[in-house]
Amino acid sequence: ATVSIGIDIGGTKIAGGVVDQGGQIVRRARRDTPAQDPDAIAHTTADLILELAAGADHIAGVGVACAGYIDKVGSTVLFAPNLAWRDEPLKARLSSQVELPVLIENDANAAAYGEFLHGGGKAADDMIMMTVGTGVGGGIINDGNLVRGAFGFGGEIGHLRVMPDGLPCGCGKRGCLEAYGSGSALLRAARKLVQSGAPEAAVLSQMCDGDVAALRGSHVTEAAKADDPAAIGLLADLGRWLGEAAASLSAVCDPELFVIGGGVADAGDLLLEPMRAAYRAQQPGLGQLPVAGFAGATLGNDAGVIGAAMLAMEIEA
Ligand code: BGC
Ligand code: NA
Ligand code: ZN
Repeated sequence: ATVSIGIDIGGTKIAGGVVDQGGQIVRRARRDTPAQDPDAIAHTTADLILELAAGADHIAGVGVACAGYIDKVGSTVLFAPNLAWRDEPLKARLSSQVELPVLIENDANAAAYGEFLHGGGKAADDMIMMTVGTGVGGGIINDGNLVRGAFGFGGEIGHLRVMPDGLPCGCGKRGCLEAYGSGSALLRAARKLVQSGAPEAAVLSQMCDGDVAALRGSHVTEAAKADDPAAIGLLADLGRWLGEAAASLSAVCDPELFVIGGGVADAGDLLLEPMRAAYRAQQPGLGQLPVAGFAGATLGNDAGVIGAAMLAMEIEA
């Protein structure tokens, strides 16, 4: 039976899997991501691919998901707002070490494709994936197809302008959704609260022993799940930004479902409920029109690996 290899290059780890045609990961391996060094990232990724390929026959190809603006043919990372990649010929670098067809895809697009085929979006023909982590990623499935756009950058929802001349974004512009609605923005807000010494920050402060640098996004989720009002409020603020952006996206794409992934999605309804509320509040014709659903990614952290592998399955040999 044919399999393919999916790779998801993240900020801290490079996850990989051998995936079968049913979207099941049959073998996994991972590496730590070498810090901000494109050359080392390519080498480490190639090494991981070779390890995974060693045990498998009939490999259709390798799909590599990574954050950034990737050209339409899936070869070059032209620009990555939060990473050192500029005109990075990632496919060529990998192909020089790996004798398999390789394609590069945007991380959120890959995750969207994975969720669409084998996860929360299985029942939907029109869905939008929002990945909430260091950045905010988007993947749009329109009438069953992944929207790449003319240049390959379709679905870059993290850089929707939500605030004229607002906070700076990693992309160099101001007021992007990512500056307000990302996991990084959540952490920034949480640290600010702890730093303020306000009484309502007591629980969060305790979780990091008063050391704001040690505070993690997962602490906010943990505190919110334990009913800490401050943490619940931080997630509600985040959900409001994302829900309002979803309403704007609905005006353009009219999806039936938003699938939310990334670490912050672990918060479940603590994030999704404020999103739904903000979405409804911003929705024209409420009561007259159908309303899109919001669900957490069911493939969790595997969405990118599975989606990238599924795209590689379609490479014409
Ligand atoms: C990048 C996207 C990426 C997203 C999530 C954004 O800053 O522009 O390409 O999908 O972060 O990683
Ligand atoms: Na995308
Ligand atoms: Zn931006």
